[in-house]
Amino acid sequence: MSAHVQRKFLSRPARRDAGGHVAEGRVMDLNGRAAVVAGGAGGLGGATVRRLVELGVGVVVLDPDTARAGALAAQLGPAVTAVAGDSTDDDAVGAAIAAAQALGVFSIAVSATGVVIRSPRLVDRDGSVMPKEVLRANLDLHVLGPFNLARLAASAFAANEPDEDGQRGVIVQTASISAFDGQATMVPYAAAKGAIVGMLLPMARDLAPIGVRVCAIAPGAIATPRLSDPRVQRLLIEDVLFPKRLGRPEEYALLAETIIRNPHLNGEVIRLDGGTRLSDGNGARH
Ligand SMILES: NC(=O)c1ccc[n+]([C@@H]2O[C@H](COP(=O)([O-])OP(=O)(O)OC[C@H]3O[C@@H](n4cnc5c(N)ncnc54)[C@H](O)[C@@H]3O)[C@@H](O)[C@H]2O)c1
Repeated sequence: MSAHVQRKFLSRPARRDAGGHVAEGRVMDLNGRAAVVAGGAGGLGGATVRRLVELGVGVVVLDPDTARAGALAAQLGPAVTAVAGDSTDDDAVGAAIAAAQALGVFSIAVSATGVVIRSPRLVDRDGSVMPKEVLRANLDLHVLGPFNLARLAASAFAANEPDEDGQRGVIVQTASISAFDGQATMVPYAAAKGAIVGMLLPMARDLAPIGVRVCAIAPGAIATPRLSDPRVQRLLIEDVLFPKRLGRPEEYALLAETIIRNPHLNGEVIRLDGGTRLSDGNGARH
């Protein structure tokens, strides 16, 4: 394989052996790069922030939860800046991008935002009908925010010097396996996560000419504070194929790292779910 093909995104010059061949596996380096992680005070976002900092990336946590974002920044030190705000808000995203540019070359954007919005059935047994507002709230939270960060981050990436592959940045979105096997009472959430999946390929196609990649992670049930109820955990684990447990936030962070570091991943949604296929949800949970 030619040295050109083996050059990696965000890399140091590749090390070569005595024969001049690139030493596989030694060339990736994120040092000097900076990221915005929206929802970085949360479970999945927080694990990603920690991993990126370990890899030498300066990270801005964009999150309305100022207490948790501030605590994480205080714990991880000067590599992390907390910006209070919401990724649907252009000013907040602009402030986060400016803060990231002060930490390094801003070239990574991760959206791991969201809180649970409980939703009823479309029509319940008692005849009550789901209000339209439930769908709107889910779309605002789970679609508008990640869309907004992606468009403003990519616009900032466009000014970066391209690497040898022509890359200027990478975006990681967070979908859910509910986009594919959404359960009863999850119409609005599944619609929102389905929108993340549906916009992914055209987004990657839109951004390819400026050297920006986009991938999404579709997690199954991962042990974050939102899933702290042991009864809910037991029910969710029933649908996991193997290993028979909830996912760990660090496993999400590892996949985010892989997407960021592997230049040939683009336009793809990757399930992270231990082989889960969700049941219809009409059982004990509802
Ligand atoms: N944990 C799971 O099992 C699981 C499974 C599938 C998908 N997901 C998705 O992963 C994402 C993160 O989930 P989590 O479990 O880490 O949740 P979490 O509640 O632990 O963290 C979410 C974080 O997002 C922040 N936030 C909310 N709205 C925001 C906004 N508009 N801008 C910036 N930050 C915002 C919250 O303050 C919180 O810190 C969500 O989109 C969720 O739907 C999670």
